[in-house]
Amino acid sequence: MRDVNGTMAEAGDRNGSDELVFFVNGRKIIEKNADPEMTLLTYLRRKLGLTGTKLGCAEGGCGACTVMLSRYQPHTKQLLHYAINACLAPLCSLHMVAVTTVEGIGSVARKLHPVQERIAKSHGSQCGFCTPGIVMSMYALLRNNPTPKMADMEEAFQGNLCRCTGYRPILHGYKTFTLDGGCCGGKGKNGCCMKNKNKVLQNSEEYVDEATSLFNTEDFAPYDPTQEVIFPPELMSLSKGQRSQSLCFHGERTTWLQPDSLDEFLLLKWKHPEARVVVGNTEVGIEVKFKNMVYPVILAPAFIPELNAVTHTEDGISFGAACTLSHMAAVLRQAVRTLHPHQSEVFLAVLEQLRWFAGQQIRNVAAVGGNIMTASPISDLNPVFMAAGCKLILMDKDGSREVQMDDRFFTGYRRTVVRPQEILISVHIPYSKKSQFISAFKQSPRREDDISIVTAAMSVTFTPGTDVVEDLRLSYGGMAPTTMLAKKTANKLLGRQWGEELLQEACSSLAEEMTLDPSAPGGMVTYRRTLTLSLFYKFYLTVLQKLRLQGVDVQEVSSKSLSATQVYHQETPSSVQIYQTVPEGQCQDDVVGRPMMHLSALKQATGEAVYCDDMPTYENELYLALITSTKAHAQILSVDVSAAECLPGVVSFLFADDVPGSNVTGIRLDETVFADNQVTCVGHIIGAVVADTQVHAQRAAKAVKIQYEELQPVVTIQEAITARSFYEPIRTIQNGDLEAGFKQAEHILEGEIHIGGQEHFYLETHVTLAVPREDEEMELFVSTQSPSDTQCFVAKALGVAANKVLIRVKRMGGGFGGKESRSVVLSPVVAVAANKLKRPVRCMLDRDEDMLITGGRHPFYGKYKVGFLNSGKVVAVDASFYSNVGNSMDLSQAIMERALFHMENSYRVPNIRGQGFMCHTNLPSNTAFRGFGGPQGMMVAENWITDVAHSLGRSAEEVRRLNLYLDGESTPYNQILYGLTLDRCWNECLSRSGYVQRQAAVHLYNKQNRWTKRGLAVVPTKFGISFTATFLNQAGALVHIYKDGSVLLTHGGTEMGQGLHTKMVQVASRVLGIPCSKIHISETSTNTVANTSPTAASASSDLNGAAVQNACEILKERLEPFKIKNPEGSWEDWVKTAYFDRVNLSANGFYKTPDLGYSFELNSGRAFHYFSYGVACSEVEIDCLTGAHKNLSTTIVMDVGQSLNPAIDIGQVEGGFMQGLGLFTLEELHYSPQGVLLTRGPGSYKIPAFGNVPTELSVSLLRDAPNDKAIFSSKAVGEPPFFLAASIFYAIKDAISAARAESGITGPFRLDSPASAERIRNTCSDRFTKLCPPAEPGTFKPWSVQV
Ligand SMILES: Cc1cc2nc3c(=O)[nH]c(=O)nc-3n(C[C@H](O)[C@H](O)[C@H](O)COP(=O)(O)OP(=O)(O)OC[C@H]3O[C@@H](n4cnc5c(N)ncnc54)[C@H](O)[C@@H]3O)c2cc1C
Ligand code: FES
Ligand code: FES
Repeated sequence: MRDVNGTMAEAGDRNGSDELVFFVNGRKIIEKNADPEMTLLTYLRRKLGLTGTKLGCAEGGCGACTVMLSRYQPHTKQLLHYAINACLAPLCSLHMVAVTTVEGIGSVARKLHPVQERIAKSHGSQCGFCTPGIVMSMYALLRNNPTPKMADMEEAFQGNLCRCTGYRPILHGYKTFTLDGGCCGGKGKNGCCMKNKNKVLQNSEEYVDEATSLFNTEDFAPYDPTQEVIFPPELMSLSKGQRSQSLCFHGERTTWLQPDSLDEFLLLKWKHPEARVVVGNTEVGIEVKFKNMVYPVILAPAFIPELNAVTHTEDGISFGAACTLSHMAAVLRQAVRTLHPHQSEVFLAVLEQLRWFAGQQIRNVAAVGGNIMTASPISDLNPVFMAAGCKLILMDKDGSREVQMDDRFFTGYRRTVVRPQEILISVHIPYSKKSQFISAFKQSPRREDDISIVTAAMSVTFTPGTDVVEDLRLSYGGMAPTTMLAKKTANKLLGRQWGEELLQEACSSLAEEMTLDPSAPGGMVTYRRTLTLSLFYKFYLTVLQKLRLQGVDVQEVSSKSLSATQVYHQETPSSVQIYQTVPEGQCQDDVVGRPMMHLSALKQATGEAVYCDDMPTYENELYLALITSTKAHAQILSVDVSAAECLPGVVSFLFADDVPGSNVTGIRLDETVFADNQVTCVGHIIGAVVADTQVHAQRAAKAVKIQYEELQPVVTIQEAITARSFYEPIRTIQNGDLEAGFKQAEHILEGEIHIGGQEHFYLETHVTLAVPREDEEMELFVSTQSPSDTQCFVAKALGVAANKVLIRVKRMGGGFGGKESRSVVLSPVVAVAANKLKRPVRCMLDRDEDMLITGGRHPFYGKYKVGFLNSGKVVAVDASFYSNVGNSMDLSQAIMERALFHMENSYRVPNIRGQGFMCHTNLPSNTAFRGFGGPQGMMVAENWITDVAHSLGRSAEEVRRLNLYLDGESTPYNQILYGLTLDRCWNECLSRSGYVQRQAAVHLYNKQNRWTKRGLAVVPTKFGISFTATFLNQAGALVHIYKDGSVLLTHGGTEMGQGLHTKMVQVASRVLGIPCSKIHISETSTNTVANTSPTAASASSDLNGAAVQNACEILKERLEPFKIKNPEGSWEDWVKTAYFDRVNLSANGFYKTPDLGYSFELNSGRAFHYFSYGVACSEVEIDCLTGAHKNLSTTIVMDVGQSLNPAIDIGQVEGGFMQGLGLFTLEELHYSPQGVLLTRGPGSYKIPAFGNVPTELSVSLLRDAPNDKAIFSSKAVGEPPFFLAASIFYAIKDAISAARAESGITGPFRLDSPASAERIRNTCSDRFTKLCPPAEPGTFKPWSVQV
């Protein structure tokens, strides 16, 4: 062993780095130059070319990088298999470990593993970027437990995210591995169990052509655990033969030392007190990647036996500091099974915290010592350790000491009493005493894999046999820079009886003691303060119940209040999908209307599908990193690259002067490739660094120093309104006579709502690879929805004609609108670099950069006046819409226009005016996102209709129904609605959801429960289909038939998971009359189909489908004579003879949507080709004390016309719904008052996870609803279902109303979106909220502002 300077230390005498030996997919790898700063993910992808494992976030928050590690443990003689995040696993930690990646378990060519096959065939893979990670989580679970329960599976997926599918199909497919998987999936005796359950609620008519299964489990290969790949025998003998080894690896900036014994570890820590100890690297990895920390020496003690020991003592269990959280949980679970219940209170509290601690991949590597020593104020374990009085053993080379985890242990933010030379050896968790009760609580924005807002543990010990408090410890996280004890309150309550008086005193005292500065980091100050009381109240009631159970004479908890003590349990979800089968007699080869699997799904599940960054690197390829502004609005005074240019690997810097063509770019030509003197948002691209590797480029980018002269930024909509900072034009749609309408109204109400923005969070971030070719040609591989726009942007920046620029798109790992126009941000920059250096250049944005730079859904603020009659009929609406556009126009005008086109949602309002103001602010430019402003417009409508119902004291369902459009009525923009199916969707939704019975049950539930409330809402949607920019409603296709009869199909649309290519193959297959297997789509490229419109507006199947149909019909016609001549011949025969007859077997197809063209000036002309409709009914339950909510049930009925592919369409409905659920209930972007985005990754920005899927989910596609306006009578489906998630929001609002009614408050109230736990809690006004009044706005500078 050497010290960091390379001189020999006592432990060994080898020169240079040791060899790192590990196995990947059974292959032995000997790495002679293991870099301590390299992660396993980078090694797999860049060194081994195993690109199946994806990079989604680099912070352990998305699971896209999940792989399985297997290790032989000599001391227990056990083989361990566990899922981990490769993005956080240091390469150097893998000595003598076997790594299994998605490629190692199966492939399309070789043999699929059942976990790969089932996710694909159950339609659980759309864009596929999350799929390998999910496959590996499931695989690791099965390796440990071949017959898991649903709960095991849900636990295994806590660390995996998917942005496309909505999770239901993944659970559905994988439940076939479980013993107890929820719904039968259509395999029940009498068809689907869910359908049977709701039978009474359905239309009386039974449809024979209705199907409830999107896949057939009989197609699944059986799972045989004995066939699994074996642990490498060589590794087994190496592991058995060797004792723990001391190792040393040197990198550019860091040395990794792995001691082989405790003594050596202590010695090393003595010599290198500044060294970082790394076990799971889940904390240090984040510091290095995102906080620019450099640790010259890393000590890795993970395999030292003393640090892994579990010792059962007389009064508890001691865990070595390197014990992983998963291991600790297993030991505690086992102990709870065997101990007397009164002894396990502390263990149960730890287990409760571990239940919601990160995801499985993190828990499998993160150590208990790491959690303690990080000393995070929001650690979930430290409050329990503190409340339970755990003891720690600390040691240095001279000896050990024991310290108590009390309020003296943490000395400041992320600081403890542990001395630099000391290490933590173990933590002792005691048994609880007979008269001791302890509870732990964690409140976070999302239940699964989320960091706490407030976390707490409370322990009380009574004088035996009484309710007199002998000892009380209330410990809180999230209320100070350290985990803290509410000592004053606890002291006051000593000797007191556990009753109402004590509760009152505790609450007033906690409200005083647990104060927070109104500007405290993390914000949510009022909520956090209230939580300290609410959680104590929960504890109080729980203890009361337990005392009674022990026979102590205390007040009985009323049955109504019991709801405060419920501990959350996830119920196994069940679901049903209903669609109409194809007409009897439809030819088997004609797959239109059948639930055909996404054509790339199998490849996606095996990791063989190639995404842009999976392409092998060119030999002379370089990497680019962006230099971006840290100020929202400023003049650039100077840029200093001197420190950066001497860093290793740096090749070149680029700034505005390096742009050979025009530096002006963007949809509205109001952006720059590189900032020119001024920056107008944080994240504005100022320059770029090109280097040999990604790490070198990024390090250099961070070393560039920029001086600014700050200017006043405009950040929020309210600031923009005050400053009248608007873009032109201010759009208006007006119809009827507003004045007369309000005169006619019997009631007039005013209201407002703010709808927060949304991050796209496509799992694959923006990526471009630019390759210079001859004659000024530039070929780009881009993850974009808009190849033609990208081509224009790049050509303009390079100063060449568009014919020199080729854009190729194979597939995207999700787009959702975020890659429609914002490829302007990256592609021109990368192309300029490739052009300057005449070498291929690649850049894939890191998640934090992508979130910072590329904008998202526009935040909206809606203000309205609504006039209505006693009946609930709305007669007049005057609404103003303000969107936060950001620093450039991008697509904001079309987005505002669509908001106005949807301002009445599905309601007929005879007198209406909507005005749209686009706020010019210093945020990164906001852009398209599924729904394109429509959801924001509709949300305001749903708000006024709810207000109307609330103010009349009527059911919102009745008021909505009363105002629904009727067929033949006209919209505010004078488009008459023909073929309206809203009423059919409405009736079917009510009957399938059992609305009437549900409503009665909700009513009863709310009567019986004070602290949890249920709510119910039915919400319709009407979504206009067409680009509102008329010229975009066109598409092209190019179809080649080769001599062998195979068909190469190209069209203008891009594949981002939505199944467009699959649908296009289905269309071509029907028109040409050949099986899909003869048709291939390779990619989308600008040299095959020119001038394509972005794949957006839900219209791509309509537009490209018609163009494909057109091309195929041309070819069919050309082949017809040969078919007539040889009717018995095959397709191949006709093609061959046609070829020899010199027939052109290539054809272009084209389509443009007829009769479009709306004029705002005249309020006439058709805005939309047709409309898609749908209705959803949702039920939720809120916890009034914490603001948490459960999605109990959702029933959706969606009109997609005659579905081209029910599996894909239902996938879009569910995926869209879940994204909407994120927007309206969960996802919150926080910006500082200076315009800095504070939420830049999955750690702080929460998209829905597996656990957010409604417990009961029913989706049916409206039957018998052909649409004569689109290909094969289908309808667009990508965006329309998104808004149906508002049913969850309004169900929450309904539940809050019930809670407010308990405090005597009725009538309309404001609830902004998202209905986060904070908002729900703060709106449920009660005795606890009253004790924590919010600080007066304007008297402090908040941590974050509503933009
Ligand atoms: C995606 C994600 C989710 C997370 N979720 C949660 C959560 O829900 N709740 C929560 O509380 N935390 C959470 N964390 C934080 C983190 O996972 C935990 O703090 C974890 O326990 C750290 O353990 P580790 O072994 O990975 O630490 P490492 O990163 O290896 O080390 C952390 C720190 O502890 C020190 N250290 C470790 N062992 C010793 C020792 N024996 N002696 C002295 N110093 C030592 C190290 O020097 C280092 O400073 C999350 C982290 C991530 C990335
Ligand atoms: S990339 Fe590793 S968890 Fe997201
Ligand atoms: S399929 Fe899961 S992220 Fe796209």
